[in-house]
Amino acid sequence: MTAENLKWWQKTIVYQIYPKSFQDTTGSGTGDLNGVTQHLDYLKNLGVGAIWLTPVYPSPQVDNGYDISNYTEIDSAYGTMKDFENLIAEADKRGIKIVMDLVFNHSSDKHEWFLESKKNRTNEKADWYIWRDAKPDGTPPTNWRGIFGGSAWTWNEQRQQYYLHSFAKEQPDLNWENPAVRQALFDAANFWLKKGVGGFRIDAIVYIKKPAEFKDGTPDSDGLASVHDVYANTAGILDFLHEFKAKVFDGHDIFTVGEANSVKPEELKFWVGNDGVFDMLFEFSHVNIMFPDGEAWHKPQIWKLTDLKKVITESQKATAQNGWYPIYFENHDKPRSVNHFFPQGTDTVKAAKVLAAILLTMRGTPFIFEGEELGFTNVAWDSIESYNDIGSHGQFQLMLQEGLTVSKALKFVHRFSRDNARTPMQWSDKKNAGFSTGTPWLPVNENYKTVNAEIEEKNSDSVLNWYRKLVQLRAGHAELIGGDYKLLLPDNEEIFAFSRSLNGNTLITAVNFSNEKVALPPDFIDKKILLDSESGADKNILKPFEARILQG
Ligand code: GLC
Repeated sequence: MTAENLKWWQKTIVYQIYPKSFQDTTGSGTGDLNGVTQHLDYLKNLGVGAIWLTPVYPSPQVDNGYDISNYTEIDSAYGTMKDFENLIAEADKRGIKIVMDLVFNHSSDKHEWFLESKKNRTNEKADWYIWRDAKPDGTPPTNWRGIFGGSAWTWNEQRQQYYLHSFAKEQPDLNWENPAVRQALFDAANFWLKKGVGGFRIDAIVYIKKPAEFKDGTPDSDGLASVHDVYANTAGILDFLHEFKAKVFDGHDIFTVGEANSVKPEELKFWVGNDGVFDMLFEFSHVNIMFPDGEAWHKPQIWKLTDLKKVITESQKATAQNGWYPIYFENHDKPRSVNHFFPQGTDTVKAAKVLAAILLTMRGTPFIFEGEELGFTNVAWDSIESYNDIGSHGQFQLMLQEGLTVSKALKFVHRFSRDNARTPMQWSDKKNAGFSTGTPWLPVNENYKTVNAEIEEKNSDSVLNWYRKLVQLRAGHAELIGGDYKLLLPDNEEIFAFSRSLNGNTLITAVNFSNEKVALPPDFIDKKILLDSESGADKNILKPFEARILQG
């Protein structure tokens, strides 16, 4: 593959925006679309070619917009459809596309489709959601547990039936078996295509297909079986997705990236590439490296650098000939990467540079999450009530049920809460980090006086400027875009190194994940250093958390 025949989205950099936390222009304490428009030049300077906006549709905000009550409108908290059209137009002027988040596994329980569906068993939308009778003793139809904890079934008095929700009870699952439901969802996606969006991120897509027979799964200690284990990626799902592709994606110069926790590298060929349904798939194997057996926050396992290199390399191999890989270390569901991948006490500026070097030189499309380019870190609030994230509350309850003390459970919330990623953007050292003149919906990270865009702009050694150097390097080296990936030093527990080669040109990324000096093997020493995160680089060694790009 040469860089010339790659599509625009294979050569670009995507920036994920959590609009609620990006920039408030009204003083409401909540970010808005005009706030995104206001910072387009910042993103252009970072080399961004597409923005993935997490949901901005009307929503009761039980799960911060992932509970949608109208698929073809803008939530008034974020602005108006005009503001959206203005954002598309202003982004377009700067060569930036806007990518929408499609949440099609479930809607909000306040969506008019659900309001209708729950009225009785005979209305027009009666089977738009997944309804079942209670067991003879009145208990839920199966022992399934929702992803945020508790039964995946909620009783509805009006209909005298239970409805299924893979996530919160306010997020009832849509019934994809019903062709009218599928068509309504495809129509909504086409609505946004007409507005000129550049692509879609497709949320929680592995859950849309349910098993033919609803029966109990093997229970965990709480007596429930996770819906993830019971029906993620159920056979038959690809038929739905091929229809989705034919009726929405085909014929448009857009990209699609599906969120697919549980699709294994060997299955990727059915999902992406020539015979696949999406252009890219977000896998979880690297971000869940400490959770090989499911995501119970109090059961993280010890992992080694070689484990991380292995899972990343498997995904690289699976998409080497066919398909394409979205590289990411952060999103709105994960802790900040500098805390997630490095032990407590690590210099987070150095850690951020290490991860950036991988992110921007790996094969695939890099996805930067807001604040990652500034080296944002986790927060630690002193009570569970301070947390907004519904997932944190579910995990906290589960931990208490399993006998953990409040303070122990809170430690795991500190480490894994999704709110870590959702604190307001830190633009400056002014009030509320320049995010809002009102009271921010979520507290600003206390470190905003020293970690913010304005300060990093002026510091040539900042994380932000390291990102810019890497972006420039990427733009100037076709091998970093289309070149083959090869893992080097596979057994080394300190250094993550790989090469990228195209038409006889090779660049090598070598980063030190450890807090010790490490000697580089001889064949790294005679190469030219193109970029280094440390001043006064010694060609023979890597200092703790040093990141280096070599040529040759
Ligand atoms: C996805 C989203 C997450 C949301 C969930 C339910 O995993 O990324 O934020 O809570 O789906 O829609």
